[in-house]
This record gives sequence, structure tokens and C-alpha cells, in this order.
Amino acid sequence: MRLSVIGCGYLGAVHAAAMASLGHEVIGVDSDQAKVASLRAGEAPFYEPGFADLLRQGLESGRLSFSDNSADTANCQVHFICVGTPQLPGSQAADLSALDRAAVDLLPHLRPDAVVVGKSTVPVGTARPLAARLADAGAHLVWNPEFLREGHAVADTLAPDRIVYGLAQVSAKRGGFGGKSAADVLDQVYADLLAVGTPRLKMSYESAELVKTSANSYLALRVSFINAISDLADSAGADILDVAAALRLDERIGKLFLNPGLGFGGGCLPKDLHALAARAEELGAPLTAELLSAADHLNVSRRARVVELAQRALGGPVAGARIAVLGLAFKPLSDDVRNSQSILVAQALATAGAEVVATDPQAVRTARAAYPGLAYAETVPEAVQGAEVILVLTEWPEYRALDPAEVATWTDTRQVVDARLCLDVPAWQAAGWTIHSPGRPTL
Ligand code: UDX
Repeated sequence: MRLSVIGCGYLGAVHAAAMASLGHEVIGVDSDQAKVASLRAGEAPFYEPGFADLLRQGLESGRLSFSDNSADTANCQVHFICVGTPQLPGSQAADLSALDRAAVDLLPHLRPDAVVVGKSTVPVGTARPLAARLADAGAHLVWNPEFLREGHAVADTLAPDRIVYGLAQVSAKRGGFGGKSAADVLDQVYADLLAVGTPRLKMSYESAELVKTSANSYLALRVSFINAISDLADSAGADILDVAAALRLDERIGKLFLNPGLGFGGGCLPKDLHALAARAEELGAPLTAELLSAADHLNVSRRARVVELAQRALGGPVAGARIAVLGLAFKPLSDDVRNSQSILVAQALATAGAEVVATDPQAVRTARAAYPGLAYAETVPEAVQGAEVILVLTEWPEYRALDPAEVATWTDTRQVVDARLCLDVPAWQAAGWTIHSPGRPTL
């Protein structure tokens, strides 16, 4: 099938390459000419395991191409909208201007039997008016939210745990597609994924929109919940890792998204939580908004908690202290520093007068571009040299695997703040280190 993907960020670029790997002919469109040039040259504009290979394979197969001109989508039967919906400056709500522009640009090029598929994360209530505009051009809209995680984007796209179709009417309306409904057309696109039994749920536009924002908000609530209990562990002399280990064995609670520490960041969870809180206020559900806002405030407070631990490790204020920061990305296997708790802690320390030197296995480049005022090192030995305390802020496998005896040869300090509770504490203690972690007062 001939497909277009409008918007080639983390979501769109991976989706385009993944659809080409399924055998479709795909054109990715983005208004950012530098991004298009990089994708055409087979260079991934961001770090995402497996993506660079998929991109190269797609380009070599001749099935994947990129353009900055939406007119090049004219022959496509299905158009995926993957543009960003960031937080509006000065507001909690989502900025839908890129989605509007994508629709306006597409309209003149739509075939009469076109299916437009919305994948961007949008506030509930966005799809239905958009569907009405597209219907004037004869096109049909399906809202098909994406649940991919950065760092696992390729696997999540090609082997999703569920596929959701938001439809104008849940009962299939057959017609303009040679007797097929818009959902049938999308089934054809995803035939390989459906053949292996991936659950596919049909629902209204509103339900599909709400699935996505509530999934991300629930994940954020879970992380904030375990961090809230971590604060209690600190006050009560308990150990949050013991508490979490026992909670995970309750099948009703489940194992994932209960890692305590520095909390959540990235391009999705914070903004989706904010946007859902804002929408809940608009929809007259103030208690829902309050629940979501509390999770957000708790998350923001994680940064101050880690600064407090740094002060405790230093035995005094951070101003004037030389501090090594290991980890800038919002999570491992990513070079994304958007809303990264790690980089926000580094910045808070620098603002408080600390001499911060920060490093990361992948994110120094993106961090330097976003926060040019911080000092960066390419390696751990460089970052920790002369440090009075080391802060581990992103739980990269490389940092988990550090040999504490070797680290001790690079620096004189023996103080480490393990903000992600990722270090092998007995090994570090045996090598003479004092470890400080939120929720683990008995260390
Ligand atoms: C998220 C959703 O998981 C994904 O389904 C959606 O499509 C996009 O948003 P992503 O932003 O890639 O994906 O990150 P995720 O893996 O969800 O992690 C979010 C943040 O939560 C990270 O900063 C991570 O460090 C933090 N986190 C996660 C915790 O602090 N504790 C946990 O137990 C899990």
C-alpha cells in the first residue's frame, strides 16, 4: 500500500521506517528540511536502538522516502498524522497548531478514498471536528493512538501490545473503499501485526483519545505513588526498595512502573499529565484534575529531594561545590533531554552556585544544545575528577556496571547520590563509598 507519514519526529520517523519494513511504500513528510535531509541520507536525527538499521534498510529497498512537500503525498491511500502536540507555553494545555497545519496541508492532496489516521496524542474531543473537515474532502479519519516507548520504539511499533481504532461510528460503515470501511483499510496496513494475534479494539474517537492520555497519566500516577511512599519511608525509617519488591508480587498491583527515585520526564508523560489535568478542568471534573496535578507536584518535588541529598553528602551547601552528574537523558537508551528530571537537577545545582560537570553515554550533544550553560564531559573519569560528590541521575546500564573500586581511582570523593536506586549498594559500600538514595534512610 502507498502510505504517507506526516511529521517525522520520534513517532513518525520510526512509524515510517516500520511501515516500509512491512512491505508498504512510504513517504515521510516533515517541514524541517534539515531533518528530511538527514533521514534521506540514512542518518537517524535522534538516538533510538534499531532505528538507524531500519531506516537504512527502508531507503535501500526503495520503499521509504522523505520530503518536505506535502504535495508528494498525493498518491497515498493512507496518511498517518504523527506531528508533535507539545505543551502550550504558559499553559497546561496541548498546542494543536501542528495538527491543524498538517490537516490544512493534506486537504488539497487527498484522494477521494483516502483514510487519514491520527497517531499524535491529543486532548479528548479533538478528532471529531477534524473528521468533519476531512469528510468535506471525502476522506475518513481513524484515531489510532501510539503507545511506543523511546528506547523501545521499533519493537513497540512492530509488536505492539494492542492496537486501538477510534472511529466516527463503531459499527463499521462500508462504502467508499471498494466496499471496505476505513477500519478495514487500516487492518490491511497492519495485516502482519494482526496476523500474530495483536488485540485490536474498535471504539469511538473520544474513547481512543482518552485511552492514550489516560495510559500515560496512569503510568505517571504509579511513578508518583511509589515516590510518595518513598517520602514516607524516609520519614519512618523504612526502605522503599523492600516495600516496592513486596508490592510487585501482588498481581493486582503488577511489577512495572514502580521504580522509585527521581521520577518521570520525557516528551510524553509530563505533558500528557498536564494536558489531561487541563482538559479535566474544562470538562468539569475538578477532582480528576486535582489527582493528576498532585502527581505532577510530587514529581517536581523529586528534584529538590535529590538536591537535599547532595547537600547531605557534601555536609553543607551546594554553592561552590564541585559536583559530578552522571546521566542527562530522561531515561536510559535515549538521547532525549526534554523535561528530563536529570538535566533539571543539574541545572538547579548550577543555578544554586555549584560547579557541575555532567556526562551521559548518548545525551551530551542534545543536552549541550538545550542547556549550553552547563559544563559537559564526554567520559565518567573526566566528569568525576575533582568532584566532591557524584550524582547518578539516569540509570544507564553503563553506570550500573561501574566498578566502584575503579571509580575510586578517578576521584578523591567517596560520596555518591544514587537518585535512581540503580547501584549495587553492597559493592559500593565495600569499596568505601557512602550512598545516599531517596527512600532509603537506613543506608
Ligand atoms: C511513555 C509511555 O510509556 C509510552 O507508552 C507512550 O507512548 C509515550 O510515553 P516514554 O516517554 O518513552 O514512554 O518513557 P517511559 O518508559 O514511559 O518512562 C517515562 C519516565 O518515567 C522516565 O523518565 C522514567 O525514568 C520514569 N520512570 C518509569 C520511573 O521513574 N519509574 C518507573 O518505574 C518507570
